[in-house]
Amino acid sequence: MTAHDVPGEVYEWLISDEKLGPAEFAATFDDDLSLLPPNADVLDCSCGTGQLAVGLAARGMRVAATDASAAMARRTTELAGEFAVSVRTLQAAWEALPEHFDDGTFDMVFCVGNSLHHAVGAEGRADALESMARVLRPGGHLVLTSRTWEVVRARGSRLDIWDRLVRRNGRDAVVVYRWEIAPAWEDEHRIEIAIAQVDTPGSVVARSELLSCWPYRYDDLAADLQRAGLRIEGSTFDGKSDNYKVVAIKA
Ligand SMILES: C[S@@+](CC[C@H](N)C(=O)[O-])C[C@H]1O[C@@H](n2cnc3c(N)ncnc32)[C@H](O)[C@@H]1O
Repeated sequence: MTAHDVPGEVYEWLISDEKLGPAEFAATFDDDLSLLPPNADVLDCSCGTGQLAVGLAARGMRVAATDASAAMARRTTELAGEFAVSVRTLQAAWEALPEHFDDGTFDMVFCVGNSLHHAVGAEGRADALESMARVLRPGGHLVLTSRTWEVVRARGSRLDIWDRLVRRNGRDAVVVYRWEIAPAWEDEHRIEIAIAQVDTPGSVVARSELLSCWPYRYDDLAADLQRAGLRIEGSTFDGKSDNYKVVAIKA
């Protein structure tokens, strides 16, 4: 199963509590949003269940939200309806963005929340970043967050059982990640995510999804961004933390 097929219900257990609300998710990007003009055109190009897109729309921006998964695009449309905001939602993989949007359409493109590693290999990643760059206007910014794969690979294949219950819609669950780290960086890696939900007292309902991903070093990402015509303006990469953010400007 690829990331496109994963039902939104699994992701909802994985989003951190502080990002569950659209306003809170958008607020985590306050520094980046301060670069934008009023009524900016923004794109969340791997929108997942829609929290960021809806949070941006609630701030008055013109928001488009795309995802390779039809189920995710649908969840985003539903969330926009719940919050009574307008979000133009489409099913579109990164490579297909230029088919849906003119070059230079957006002031800011977001690709956040451990999404880019789903691009298939170095070629898929380069194509994805090139598409994101094309739909940005000159002077526009790409905001990208990523797992630090240097750290993930150093830990090797393993089982991670989260150390506290996650609560969603009045239900508790234990979340387990099984990491399959391939010998070479270039190889397909896998993450199996299991949600063991405490259903009625004494019973547990478990679901698991197997995701494929293609990791990359920070230096590879930096080179890919440069090739796509994007210059890194800010980066939180330190080689030690689990995640980082890169902000890159289109020349
Ligand atoms: C881990 S989720 C992150 C969702 C959201 N950005 C967040 O932070 O909650 C990764 C998302 O990337 C999407 N995705 C995977 N491959 C993609 C592709 N080729 N093009 C666009 N989206 C893709 C998946 O469907 C999924 O919604």
